[in-house]
Amino acid sequence: MQTIIVTGGAGFIGSHVVRLLVNKYPQYKIINVDCLTYAGNLANLKDIEDKPNYRFVKANICDFPTIYRLMQEEKVTGVIHLAAESHVDRSIKDPFTFAQTNVMGTLSMLQAAKLYWESLPEQYEGKRFYHISTDEVYGALELTHPEGIESPFTTKASSAHHHAYGERFFTEDLKYMPHSPYSASKASSDHFVRAFHDTYGMPTIVTNCSNNYGPYQFPEKLIPLFIHNIRHRKPLPVYGKGENVRDWLYVEDHARAIDLIFHEGKVAETYNIGGFNEWKNIDIIHLLIETVDRLLGRTPGEDNSLITYVTDRAGHDLRYAIDSRKLQRDLGWEPSLQFEEGIERTIRWYLDHQAWMDNITSGEYEKYYEEMYGKR
Ligand code: NAD
Ligand code: TYD
Repeated sequence: MQTIIVTGGAGFIGSHVVRLLVNKYPQYKIINVDCLTYAGNLANLKDIEDKPNYRFVKANICDFPTIYRLMQEEKVTGVIHLAAESHVDRSIKDPFTFAQTNVMGTLSMLQAAKLYWESLPEQYEGKRFYHISTDEVYGALELTHPEGIESPFTTKASSAHHHAYGERFFTEDLKYMPHSPYSASKASSDHFVRAFHDTYGMPTIVTNCSNNYGPYQFPEKLIPLFIHNIRHRKPLPVYGKGENVRDWLYVEDHARAIDLIFHEGKVAETYNIGGFNEWKNIDIIHLLIETVDRLLGRTPGEDNSLITYVTDRAGHDLRYAIDSRKLQRDLGWEPSLQFEEGIERTIRWYLDHQAWMDNITSGEYEKYYEEMYGKR
């Protein structure tokens, strides 16, 4: 029996984690703590909201007294911490919010768990604080092979082209070199989590995952934004030359890794999560256009003219590529969904869930929120 707080459960990845845990562990209690920022959407959890082992608590992770009381009241045994500000472009405009939520919010979660668990006779026994982080904390890798070379490593998730765009990969022992306010705030939160292990003996785990794609991602991020824009024949703003490389993993494979690591990961360890699936932005954009056009019965590629090159993102990291061999070797994790299948499934999902997308993009989302909770 476990009582687990999942923070940020109304967001993109968090909603997949909550769904997986609620369905897989009817004997657990899963408490979704989310303050519903613009990125938090309870419509992401409609299918499980009435399950008896699920509870939603609208709370800000920075609100230490509320979080501490909740831990006591619910006798929380584990925390899976995903709540964060997550969009790099927003962090460039408003770094303070990122420091507040990602750094101070994480500290508030850690301190609440520490005080509660240390007050128990068994203290940290059977407890776990699992912090979800990003590969962006490692900085950027070189792009030494712009045309791509045969990747030395592949998984079931790797794309058919099997390309790597450089020799180096992010491994767990790399020095942190964050460049954006977002990655700097995530790096700082990772350090706090490890400090709570080293200083107080808290059983912590940190994982660093590559870019996720899949259903329920907020349409400010590349893949859902571009699917939406292609459908509505709106311009596709490609930053710089579109040559930056990202390593994409299907969100349910990330959620499965989180479940495995929460239960079987070794305390104080770091695990990188990724499927060895590197893509240049411009190549992924062409794939999105071709697939959306095909699924909508348009001539494949007819929407290539929507591509609009715009000013590059400030400090735009060139290449991310995760080495996840430790997780595969130590815990036997293997992603399940091959990229070309996953992207087609994702595009179909967005095209079939127009109401979800329209609700967010039309302003209905804000109206509903204000009726329920008042202004954000
Ligand atoms: P998201 O922006 O879709 O969701 C974030 C959620 O956190 C939202 O529901 C929001 O309401 C909630 N939240 C934000 N501030 C809060 C606060 N102060 N108190 C309570 N709730 C708050 O983010 P995501 O893409 O699902 O990312 C989730 C986590 O995974 C983040 O920690 C992110 O850094 C990490 N991550 C994301 C990716 C990715 O590709 N999206 C990759 C690796 C790691
Ligand atoms: P994004 O989805 O914001 O994820 P991240 O910045 O965390 O990797 O962006 C993915 C890539 O796509 C990144 O290199 C920036 C680029 N991008 C664009 O070219 N245009 C856009 O409108 C967006 C949102 C992103």
